[in-house]
Amino acid sequence: MNLAETSMPSHEVSSEELDATPLIEVKDLHVEFDGHVILSGITRSIKRGQTVAVIGESGCGKTVFMKTLVALIKPTTGHVMFDGRDLNRQSPAQLAQIRRRFGFVFQHAALFDSMNIFDNVAFPIRQNEPQTDEDEVRRRVRQHLLEVGLPEEVAAKYPAEISGGMQKRVGLARALVLKPELVVYDEPTTGLDPIMSDVINELILNTRRTYPVTSVVVTHDMRTARKVADRVIMFFPRRMLDAGQSQILFDGPPSGLEHAEDRRVRQFVRGEAGDRIREMSRATA
Ligand SMILES: Nc1ncnc2c1ncn2[C@@H]1O[C@H](COP(=O)(O)OP(=O)(O)OP(=O)(O)O)[C@@H](O)[C@H]1O
Ligand SMILES: [Mg+2]
Repeated sequence: MNLAETSMPSHEVSSEELDATPLIEVKDLHVEFDGHVILSGITRSIKRGQTVAVIGESGCGKTVFMKTLVALIKPTTGHVMFDGRDLNRQSPAQLAQIRRRFGFVFQHAALFDSMNIFDNVAFPIRQNEPQTDEDEVRRRVRQHLLEVGLPEEVAAKYPAEISGGMQKRVGLARALVLKPELVVYDEPTTGLDPIMSDVINELILNTRRTYPVTSVVVTHDMRTARKVADRVIMFFPRRMLDAGQSQILFDGPPSGLEHAEDRRVRQFVRGEAGDRIREMSRATA
């Protein structure tokens, strides 16, 4: 039963039912920029504790979707509910409160170049919990750097002085330092070698083992999708669909991808171009 869609429950809510309440509900989401429709007709919910991989070809709207989930992009129409609250209907102060419950891992790590690694990871604590004393800040930063496998010496370095793989791990530590309920990752393994990619995959898995986080992982990397996700959602570019066709080609466990009914899904996961070159030239004509 979807509790959020019922009016006040007439009975006491059991913990089982609470677990079934989605953390995120997306209702008829529509996003357009300058008249170009990027997402439309998206209705989905994400359960607490779920790890969802969002896949699809470049430009299909994965990042836009992820950003609407954490209120970095406002839907043109439709709603995103987080823990039963419509993100569109929150005051800036309420939104700031809700944002503390999110962790972001952006593509290219997006660290603050002018801060050393310690200050980068400490930033969310100092920003959101300014009453925290410095000993506690140090303890938490050290613990989170350790959790992503970074030695203590790294703390004094600046982002430009460490490798891309290390930067990604610092980004992960920074995203997790406030123990967010929802973590969104944009291409966490892009640009990394296969071993470092797998280190990141393991860290995403580890986070869930440590506490009941909900994660949305936008990725091109099918190994990441298969390894970390218990559910995969595949988008297709809106501009290549007819009105009324669903933009979501697949929604299910990663084990179902390889033999998905839709040919476009199978082609994507196997990395086959098929007749896409012809389709692409038609779409841009
Ligand atoms: N702020 C914006 N203003 C205008 N257009 C935008 C904006 N953000 C995204 N777009 C457009 O929306 C479309 C989808 O972009 P998005 O970044 O979500 O794609 P994506 O699926 O994440 O692609 P990639 O795999 O290359 O990262 C693109 O055509 C992009 O140009
Ligand atoms: Mg993107």
